This record gives sequence, C-alpha cells and structure tokens, in this order.
Amino acid sequence: TYVVTESCIKCKYTDCVEVCPVDCFYEGENMLVIHPDECIDCGVCEPECPADAILADTDQGAETWLELNSKFAAKWPNIIQQSEALANAEEYDGMENKFDKYFS
Ligand code: SF4
Ligand code: F3S
Repeated sequence: TYVVTESCIKCKYTDCVEVCPVDCFYEGENMLVIHPDECIDCGVCEPECPADAILADTDQGAETWLELNSKFAAKWPNIIQQSEALANAEEYDGMENKFDKYFS
C-alpha cells in the first residue's frame, strides 16, 4: 500500500484524489489518508502530490504513517473529487514537524 505522510498536513492539494483508480483517500480537516486495505498499490498518486507527501509503505519513514493511515481511513469520510488546496498551502509546503502542531 501507499501512505500519506506529514507533508500533506495543512496543504491538502488533493491532486492524489483525482488520479486514484479506486477512490481510497479519506479526508480529515488538515490531511488525507489512504485506506491500506483498499489501495491496489498502483503508485499513480505518488508522483502527483506537489508536496511529495505520498510514500510506499516499504519506503524509509513510512512505518509510523501506515498505522495512522489505517486508523483514520476508518474514521474519516471518503473523498472522491479533487478540491481546492487549503489556504496558504504553499506556506506550509515543506515545513517540518507539522504533525505536532497541526494534525487534525
Ligand atoms: Fe490510489 Fe494507487 Fe495511490 Fe493506492 S497507489 S492510493 S490505489 S492511486
Ligand atoms: Fe495531500 Fe498531496 Fe494529496 S498534499 S491531499 S497527499 S496531493
């Protein structure tokens, strides 16, 4: 499976949603997650994210994010259409430690 990581937080560009063939993204206030049981591992979303927030679960640093994606995909609503990025997304793009400050 692929996973969404910290870089998505406060950006939420949603380009990933547009290309996913199985609509397996779920939407929180400040970030999206991928449902690990629904993702077919096609890899199409990974290069589409302007914030480089998407990793394969085998990539370095993905481990803790798999758990989070799994947990919140079960709670948050499905998102199937691209929407506007969050306000000031560019400002938060690339910022470190966004999880502690802004995760929701
Ligand atoms: Fe969707 Fe493919 Fe990305 Fe999985 S890897 S979330 S199936 S686009
Ligand atoms: Fe987030 Fe990137 Fe998708 S910023 S919403 S993972 S395009």
